[in-house]
Amino acid sequence: MPVVGKPLPHESAIGHATGQAPYIEDLPPRADELWVDFVGSPCARGVLERIDADAARALPGVVAVLTAADIPGHNHWGGVVVDEPFLAASELAYVGQPVVAIAAVDRETALRARRAIKLHVREEQPVLTIEEAIAAGEFLGAEQRIARGDFAAAWKSAPHRLETTVTIGGQEQFCLESQSALAIPEEDGTIIVHSSTQNPTEIQAVVAEGLGVGMHRVVCICRRMGGGFGGKETQAAIPAFLVALVASRTGRAARMVYTKDDDMKVTGKRHQYRADIRAAFDEEGTIQGVEIRFHSNGGAFVDLSFAVMERTLFHADNGYFIPNFDVVGRVCRTNLPPNTAFRGFGGPQGVAAIEHTIQEIARVLGRDAADIRRRNCYGIGERDITPYGQRFVHNTLPEIYERLLASSDYAERRRRVAAFNAESRTHLRGLAITPVKFGIAFTATFLNQGNALVNVYTDGTVQVSTGATEMGQGVNTKIRQIVADEFGLPIEAVRMMTTSTEKNINTSPTAASAGTDLNGLAARDACEKILREMRTFAAGIFTGGETGLGTDPALIRFRDGRVFDERRPGNFLLFDQFAKRCRLNRVNIGARGFYATPNLHFDRATGRGNPFNYFTCGAAVAEVLIDRLTGELVVDRVDLLMDIGRMINPGVDRGQVIGGFIQGLGWVTTEELVYSPKGHLLSYSPTTYKIPGVDDVPRDFRVAFLDNARNTHNIYASKAVGEPPLLLGLCAWAAVKDALATVAGAARAVPLNLPATGEEILRCLTALEAHVTALPGVLAPAK
Ligand code: MTE
Ligand code: HPA
Ligand code: MOS
Repeated sequence: MPVVGKPLPHESAIGHATGQAPYIEDLPPRADELWVDFVGSPCARGVLERIDADAARALPGVVAVLTAADIPGHNHWGGVVVDEPFLAASELAYVGQPVVAIAAVDRETALRARRAIKLHVREEQPVLTIEEAIAAGEFLGAEQRIARGDFAAAWKSAPHRLETTVTIGGQEQFCLESQSALAIPEEDGTIIVHSSTQNPTEIQAVVAEGLGVGMHRVVCICRRMGGGFGGKETQAAIPAFLVALVASRTGRAARMVYTKDDDMKVTGKRHQYRADIRAAFDEEGTIQGVEIRFHSNGGAFVDLSFAVMERTLFHADNGYFIPNFDVVGRVCRTNLPPNTAFRGFGGPQGVAAIEHTIQEIARVLGRDAADIRRRNCYGIGERDITPYGQRFVHNTLPEIYERLLASSDYAERRRRVAAFNAESRTHLRGLAITPVKFGIAFTATFLNQGNALVNVYTDGTVQVSTGATEMGQGVNTKIRQIVADEFGLPIEAVRMMTTSTEKNINTSPTAASAGTDLNGLAARDACEKILREMRTFAAGIFTGGETGLGTDPALIRFRDGRVFDERRPGNFLLFDQFAKRCRLNRVNIGARGFYATPNLHFDRATGRGNPFNYFTCGAAVAEVLIDRLTGELVVDRVDLLMDIGRMINPGVDRGQVIGGFIQGLGWVTTEELVYSPKGHLLSYSPTTYKIPGVDDVPRDFRVAFLDNARNTHNIYASKAVGEPPLLLGLCAWAAVKDALATVAGAARAVPLNLPATGEEILRCLTALEAHVTALPGVLAPAK
């Protein structure tokens, strides 16, 4: 029986639930193992003048205290621009930036040494916000732009014009497992690094460069992560390098696990953005042109900020055909930890800007924003070219709107919300639908490749190794299903092996939601190679001389654990018997597979091309309730409909949709990063940084899927699911804007920024109500 399409449990479900699935911190200690910790910069910007480490060195149990001067190779790394030091040598660029690495016999001793080290610094005035960076002219890289048509002309001739600015908050990945790594020295200077990384090849490369050795002397292994969410696409590098440095200096195994506090304080997050927008539209709400100037807070080093900004520009149209479009983006350099990938990778900020704009257009025209959205939706066979020139084929958005508006009873609830708002003096209700169209592929075209190693053993079992890393998202479960079906084997016969650069080379990070697409297709390619050999051999067995049948490898079937010629299914070998025969007859039953997504190209100079393989789409409707006196927000009900094609694993994918949506809900409603005026993160624990809890899940939450078998661009007509549902969290934020628009009316903008925390909502209400009534807080319903 085929297993693709079945909701099989996650391959580590029992291990996750019982605690038996090991993470790096759980791996058994090695003899003589050292614990590694670090001392970070005490200030956001400054110059390091002296390190006072004598007291720490003298502590019993302290084995090494290392600084930039102890790094044998390059002290700089970076996936795109090599600008970030492993250990700061003189210039200090953010609070907590690693300066000194400590190795001690245990955790407590390392912590004692950390406290005993004094950094003498000359503090300078930091640049922390986008506004400060713009004023100081502090940028990383040049402006990026995607444009088509003539915005200036559209602006001039439009019946309606809107100018608006919105600020969009950052977000902490909040992985349950912090950044962690374990290095084990082997003979000849080889180092094995176990890293909680989405990107083993990059870890291999940066460790090799930092140590000044060839990549062939470094192996990076990742069995699993306790969440990555983009935060481990690049930023697993510093801890991985520091343990490797200690291992290579001392000849002893070395392990490091950031505390949650350190992890939150010193690693990068989702980029905070500011979007300055101009929109031109007509009386009906047809958008004629949009111009957006994005600034992101990049932090101190480039990291992935350019690619994140590029994805913002690619998603600023979201699901809307906008004939005159001009978006530019610039990354600000600030004295915060370098911001990095986070689920959605810049897409959410682009979509937030255009959804904000749509809500404002609706308010100005006194129309339901759902109508504006449908009116401007990409067409089918017409109005279907994106601003960067890619045709949006198989557009399911119109169908999604139609179904979801009906199934969520939108029209009737719109009437009820209006009636409620006319009646209530203490509460406001809001309702909104927001769509998502998320481009699937790395925008850096070369990353769209994967390789896999498939080994068939003589007992009929199979081991699969790919470059994909498991972070809970279920990539291994899905690839396991694909391979089981290729050989017609039960799922138990296939085992997913630990990811290692020794087996899979030059891998791309598991990111851009493309893990299953790239590595699943590479695994299938390996299976096909093996099957080709097997079929030829099997044809000789089943259709040899005595059968009287002509030899035809194409008629050999692998099904239900049996191998047979389709014309004589009764004459079969069990797969294990057959595998044994293969070996005895010197037939190769192991193979390496490869996949490169075809037809991708993008020309940065012209801003034109085909950057994506296909689009994952969906929409969600949120109804919210706001307490006008306190600003408290409750998301009462959410209806969500996604087109993720034919699901390889409907259970895993449903988990991705729900988890992604709730993570998006946190970003738009409660998660707020607060820094001190000197650049210290104040919200560095769950007591001060509010991620969604079970109570924050909408009381009425309805998740449904469109049955779409048309995505022939991908394996089994499936679609990538990892990031897109996060962007649907924006429906709750749009619903808050919808609620506040009843107070603002057509004349006044709703000054809501993102996230819509209770404080932010109250700030807006206060600003709007001050205008309306002499009774602050409790006021007559706006007319
Ligand atoms: N789901 C879980 N449980 N944990 C994670 O860390 N990361 C997300 C998403 N879903 C993540 C997750 C991100 S940012 C991406 S890009 C994708 O998973 C990566 O995996 P995939 O390409 O296999 O979907
Ligand atoms: N998405 C996620 N990660 C990436 C990308 C992308 O488009 N490009 C480089 N790293
Ligand atoms: Mo996901 S942000 O592409 O790791």
